[in-house]
Amino acid sequence: MSTSGERHNGTKCAGPCTMVIFGASGDLTKRKLVPALYNLVRQKLLPEEFSVIGFARRETAAHEFREQMRRNIHEYAGDDFDPEPWRWLESRLDYIAGAFDDDAAYARLAAQLAQSAATTGSSNVLFYLAAAPEQFGPIVEKLSRAELTGPSATGWRRVVVEKPFGRDLESARSLNVQLRGFLAENQIYRIDHYLGKETVQNLLVFRFANGIFEPIWNRRYVDHVQITVAEALGVEGRGGYYEEAGALRDMVPNHIFQLISLVAMEPPISFDADAVRDEQSKVLRAIQPMRPEDVLTKAVRGQYAMGTIRGRRLPDYRQEDRVDSLSNTETFVAMKVEIDNWRWKDVPFYLRVGKAMPRRLTEIAVQFRRPPFALFRGTEVGALQSNQLVISVAPDEGISLSFSAKIPGATMRIGSVDMDFDYTEHFGTKPATGYERLLHDAFLGDQTLYQRADMVEAGWTVVAPVLDVWTALTARDFPNYAAGTWGPDLATELLARDGRNWRVSDR
Ligand code: BG6
Repeated sequence: MSTSGERHNGTKCAGPCTMVIFGASGDLTKRKLVPALYNLVRQKLLPEEFSVIGFARRETAAHEFREQMRRNIHEYAGDDFDPEPWRWLESRLDYIAGAFDDDAAYARLAAQLAQSAATTGSSNVLFYLAAAPEQFGPIVEKLSRAELTGPSATGWRRVVVEKPFGRDLESARSLNVQLRGFLAENQIYRIDHYLGKETVQNLLVFRFANGIFEPIWNRRYVDHVQITVAEALGVEGRGGYYEEAGALRDMVPNHIFQLISLVAMEPPISFDADAVRDEQSKVLRAIQPMRPEDVLTKAVRGQYAMGTIRGRRLPDYRQEDRVDSLSNTETFVAMKVEIDNWRWKDVPFYLRVGKAMPRRLTEIAVQFRRPPFALFRGTEVGALQSNQLVISVAPDEGISLSFSAKIPGATMRIGSVDMDFDYTEHFGTKPATGYERLLHDAFLGDQTLYQRADMVEAGWTVVAPVLDVWTALTARDFPNYAAGTWGPDLATELLARDGRNWRVSDR
């Protein structure tokens, strides 16, 4: 398709390499990874000397693996399927059946990698761990013992680690220690798929490539920030995982904190991976971990009861498959996060994230301080609205700024109007799973959009007191919100106590 290093529309084509997917028979491979590779082929961003080896316990012949991926690609790659790039990719898919603790399987993998190095002339390998989290450490250890991660290897060896990265601060730290026992930090790519979203990446461009926002992006002008990540689905067959994780672990120290760090970080000195991640890490470390007694007032947990979402009936969370009938697991979290630095002191960041909400909605709303009212005393205007800048991540992607305008007429009346930018309307859509950019960066060796060890640990440090208190104290009011509502009343009270409300989105 294209030679290594060639540029297409300013984007660099990856160099020769083999990608090995651990857990290739799982959902992620068929839903995201293979469709993302296919999209990269369509964009001519993969080199001629590219191949994929699926590695999983399931006994499947390589041709069966290819067939399975072919069956799925129509479903997950969007409507306008193009057979040519698929054929190109399919001819490069291979499979090795083996248990993750079986030395013989790693020997087969080593032999296959040696063979592909001989034909392609390159021994670059990206290992992708789409396996169960408890396997991350053992797989890396086996790879290292089989001398597959260097330094004896010629070419680069990189390892992408999926989430969840630990289940608390201690386990995240020990996983970091385990991985770094065998790999250098610049070989470890901790993925967070929120950073693959265009609108999330655009936060950096929006903030730092425009002159007008940065001067007002601070405590002097911003009243507070709200982050909402609402899903209209329940746990959808993932009860086993979710019951152990809960909404806090599943979404907050990773996805939500990525969003907070991009909104709140200081300008990095360059787009260099460590320059950006230094600033993200700094702002995460400035978040004040709650004292145990504050958890009761600054963090809210919820669990859904049966209800209806757009005509679809959901059972109680406690009745979902593989969920305890007395479960203490939260499916909703709201929190007040305080960043104790010069830019954000006294500007709360409120976040809420939940399953079984009325609709899918991911957005960041930056609410500015209200102007003084004096001018309008004695007119019909009762109150002034605050300006809001809303960054919509899903389902619509865009940015809008609300401001007050005079309603035409002989008397002074004020209404709120929006300036809207819609990504799709403006730029059109490209079929994407959200993994394209992240995979491509890993092939190129760019870690900017991957989490560094200190960032992951900073995230867990902030949520640790909440996890501790919630584990120690059973939630007596569960279930406390009906599926199809915006969470428990306590979430409304969390803002009401500060004289604020959750934004009602009109997108
Ligand atoms: C995953 C969580 O990491 O992110 C899921 O494990 C959640 O529970 C998903 O549904 C949300 O991702 P997105 O891209 O749909 O917002």
